[in-house]
Formats: sequence, C-alpha cells, structure tokens
Amino acid sequence: MSAPHITIGRIGEHAGETITLKGWLHNRRSSGKIHFLVVRDGTGFVQVVMGKNDVGEEVFQRADHLGQESAVIITGVVRADARAKGGYEVVASGLEVVSAAHDYPITPKEHGVDYLLDRRHLWIRAERQTAILRVRHEVINAVRDFFNGQGFILADTPIFTPAACEGTTTLFPVQYFEDTTAYLTQSGQLYNEANAMALGRVYCFGPTFRAEKSKTRRHLTEFWMVEPEMAYADLNDVITLAEGLVTSVVARVLDRRAAELKVLERDTSKLEAVKAPFARLHYDEAAKILLDKGLPFQIGGDLGGTDETVLSEQFDGPVCVTHYPAAIKAFYMKPDPQEPDKALCVDVLAPEGYGEIIGGGQRLDDLDLLLQRIKEHDLPQEAFEWYLDLRRYGTVPHGGFGMGIERVVAWICGLEHVRETIPYPRMLYRLYP
Ligand code: 4AD
Ligand code: MG
Repeated sequence: MSAPHITIGRIGEHAGETITLKGWLHNRRSSGKIHFLVVRDGTGFVQVVMGKNDVGEEVFQRADHLGQESAVIITGVVRADARAKGGYEVVASGLEVVSAAHDYPITPKEHGVDYLLDRRHLWIRAERQTAILRVRHEVINAVRDFFNGQGFILADTPIFTPAACEGTTTLFPVQYFEDTTAYLTQSGQLYNEANAMALGRVYCFGPTFRAEKSKTRRHLTEFWMVEPEMAYADLNDVITLAEGLVTSVVARVLDRRAAELKVLERDTSKLEAVKAPFARLHYDEAAKILLDKGLPFQIGGDLGGTDETVLSEQFDGPVCVTHYPAAIKAFYMKPDPQEPDKALCVDVLAPEGYGEIIGGGQRLDDLDLLLQRIKEHDLPQEAFEWYLDLRRYGTVPHGGFGMGIERVVAWICGLEHVRETIPYPRMLYRLYP
C-alpha cells in the first residue's frame, strides 16, 4: 500500500508517519552516504534526508544526478527536528522521478531582475515569490470577507468603457465597437455609484488599466483594485471604512501568513502597530511639512512619490491626507462647502514610505456643478448622460474609494517594487511572458 499523499504546508500534522510528497527538487547537496534534497510542492519547502542504506544503491545514484526542478515523488517518514527550517524533515525510503529536468535557468545564485522577469513563469516557483503570492491571496480574501461581512454587495463593473474616469492621459483605447472607441477601465467607480443607488453599499473588484507613461516602483499598467461605494455617506464615513479595511487586512495576514512574512524577513512589529484611527492631515498641513523639510513642493500641486514617502515616514501608522486642491483632482469630486477650492477627498498613505494605497472621497452629487466640471475637464457630455441621471433621479451624498491590491501587498511584504506582487506584471516595457 502506498503511503498517503500530504502537503508540506501541513507536514506538522504527520510527525512520525510514513507519507508521500509530490513536488519538485529545489536544491541538493551530498555528503558521502547522505543526500540532502530540498523539495517544494507549492505549499512549502522541506529538506529530505536520503541515506544510501535506506533507499538502496540504485535510487541513491539516481538522486545524485537529478537536476533542479526535476519532478519527484518522495516516500519517507516525517521527523520533527528543531534545527530544520519549518521544524520538520523527511527521512526518505523511496524516490520516483516523474520527470528529470536539466539546466534550470534560475539557479540559487543572484540573477538580475530583467533576467528574472523574462522568466517570470519560472521565477514564481522561488520561495520568496511563492510567499508573496500567498500573501496576495490572503489580502484578496481578507478584502472580500471584510466587505461581505459588512453587508456590501459585490456588483461587477465593465472593463470596456465608453469614457474616462481618471483623466484622459492614461486611457488604453480598444478598436472594435461600431462607430466608437472603447477604453479599458481605469476604475469601476462611476458604475459603482449607479450600483450604490440601486443596492446601498456595493463593491467591485477587478483588473484596472492605466497607460502609465512613467516607470516607477509603484505603477503597473494592469493592476487589481477593490472599490467600495456607499449611498448616504460623507468623507468621514469613507475614511472610517478605509481604516476598517486596512486594519482588518493587515491583522488577517499577520494571523494567517506568519510563515510567509518570515520567509520575506518582514519586520512585523511595524505591521502590528497598524491600528485605527489613522492620523489625518489636511493638504495644507502636508504641504507645510514638505516645505519645512526643504522639499521642492509646489503648493497647489499633487503629491509626488517622494512627497508621499517623506510624509508617510512622519507617522508610525497609515496617514489620511484630505482636501487636495479640487483643480488637480478628478471631475467627480465634491468641493468642501467650507473651502470650495478643496475637494472632500482622501488618500491613505501606507507607513514606512510606501506611499498611496487608497484614493477616494465624497462624490459631487449636484447636477449643475457636475455638468460644469465635465465641461471644464473637456469630457464628452454624451458619454456621461447615464452618470448624470444619478443626479437627476434621487441624488444623495455618497462616496467610496479604491484600494490597489499590488500596492498593499508590496507594503505588507516589505517589497521595493510592485512588480513582484502579481504573477505576471504589466508595465510600459513588460508584456512577456
Ligand atoms: O487614486 P486612484 O486613481 O483612484 C481611483 O481610481 C478612484 N476612482 C477610486 C474610487 O474612488 N473608487 O486609484 C486608487 C488606487 C491607488 O490608491 C493605488 O493604490 C492604486 O489604485 N493604483 C495603482 N496601483 C498600481 N499601479 C497603478 N498604475 C495604479 N494607479 C492607481
Ligand atoms: Mg490616487
């Protein structure tokens, strides 16, 4: 009878038992009569100790010539060992080579990032990369559970859209529909607003596209965004929701992905400090901090990447920057009645210099002012007639935000660049594989 197949991720439940592992050979070293094989199976990595006397001459010889990433099935006994990575190792009694691999292009030596990105389909097998992708999975599920648990309805928004949501400079045109150019969505927000008027509290969650002309460590051309939208809500409600979401996502990853954060050598004390309420900073105060620090900041302008980094370094937890000048923000933002040149908007900046992870605010709910803004932004009114209907029929104060999944994963994992937070990143110079 063959031993039961188990996964490395749950190996601790099988100490002392004879089991099989189905995976791939990650690394191998030998000392005379013993091979040490590091095997991975997608759920983790474990060391397999193979003694010549336990498996016989023939199997022992075969293991000696196996290349990295050869597919193998190992039979053996799970042994608790405090010195072993993960606390367990397997003492092999059998080896089946499912397929032998030769000259795997990614070796334990250091490779340049372009070399690795060209081989992203293989690079994702690396221990760090699998840890990041598991954290991504946890973040996405934490997001869904958070909104589902608060009575939000998931209502999808289209990817082909007739008009811009976030400015016309980052649109991807698609030629297919009769007599018109379609664009890949930059944000589901406008449809979310319609959905909120139908369902109260909604969210959409999907890929969004921006033809970003700049190469930065925070920008992808295709990224995943979750966007909640609430009817009968103001800027304060939006900020409270953002705080609840961010704290619950961080707590969930700390709770369930401690092993992955360890692989990533993440300083988790910084994440444990993420507690609501977050600090709040009016745009004017933010501008003052930047100028006091001697940064070349233009009052009235948007915050750049460096500005965000410097600001977020002033606080232990995330910080909410509100009241950006209306003139530099999207057409749909509601001006603050107290200071009409400022918008009722918020950007949440992650701590440790990671910059903006959330953007949102209260929406312009007045028909006349919205029409005026659409004209000022030189947007085609016909394409927005349906959106204007929301202000004609039962308009109410409402708001929401968008949170970029890759930015959040980069922050939680402590990564320099967002390109490792998604299986196949898309950037200005990166479409392959
Ligand atoms: O601030 P943004 O542009 O806001 C919106 O799109 C709103 N319509 C959302 C809403 O209110 N429903 O984008 C929201 C978030 C950013 O804070 C950032 O996390 C992420 O989306 N993001 C990007 N992530 C990766 N690459 C890019 N090019 C991104 N652009 C925005
Ligand atoms: Mg933004």
